[in-house]
Amino acid sequence: IGVFDSGIGGLTVLAALRHALPSQDLLYLGDTARVPYGTRSPETVVRYSMRVGGYLASEGIEALVVACNTATTHALPSLATACARRGIRVFGVVEPGVREALALHEGGPLAVLGTEGTIAGGAYQDLIHARSPETHVIARACPLFVPLVEEGWCSGDVPARVAECYVGDLRGKVQTAILGCTHYPLLREVLTTTLPGVTLIDSAQATARFVAQQLEQGTLSSGQGRTEYRVTDHLERFQRVGEAFLGYLPEPTRWIDLPEAPHDFLDR
Ligand code: DGL
Repeated sequence: IGVFDSGIGGLTVLAALRHALPSQDLLYLGDTARVPYGTRSPETVVRYSMRVGGYLASEGIEALVVACNTATTHALPSLATACARRGIRVFGVVEPGVREALALHEGGPLAVLGTEGTIAGGAYQDLIHARSPETHVIARACPLFVPLVEEGWCSGDVPARVAECYVGDLRGKVQTAILGCTHYPLLREVLTTTLPGVTLIDSAQATARFVAQQLEQGTLSSGQGRTEYRVTDHLERFQRVGEAFLGYLPEPTRWIDLPEAPHDFLDR
């Protein structure tokens, strides 16, 4: 199963998948040379995501988990089309997050926190409205959260102040907030302090459960429970920040230079 994100945020999904599917082989790709995706145009995010998808497809994956909300928002249809031709199943993070949020939400406005790209793309807002037209959505872009997490700066005064600026006004107004970026679960402690009593929906956990259910039918070849990592920039930095988060060193990790997506992968 290939799993990708722009950086280390998708490790939240990877860890949950590792737990849910202990015997599958997982190949994680952090496109750290191009992080952040969240501030880039939809066209650029599609191009980057197709490169990653093309690379992972060439590595022989049988399923692809897009562990990035920004890439899911902009590139899921293109990835799904390209992967379908090769018999690769594709999963995004938006649908499982929405499903879980609506199951737990007890009324009132529902907050969605995400990158600029995810919020502007409207994938969460559209899906929530389609499934629950009466739910009022408060969508909030929190662009500084990703660089803080990539820096390993997940607690203390600075993230707390940033969180207060972005979402402090939601205190007492919302009961549920979707963490619509796979980096944000790493700020859970800070967000719990800023938004006490608010149910924080971690799309990483929801996605892993959904993927595990979908793949349970034994449609994949059996694996050996191996996990490998690839990054497109600083290997040491990825391992250092990844270890602080995972609690173990992400290895083996290998640096790769992503080639352009193969033509047959890009054919519409
Ligand atoms: N973690 C990603 C997401 O879920 C992308 C963050 C970024 O690269 O801006 O949107």
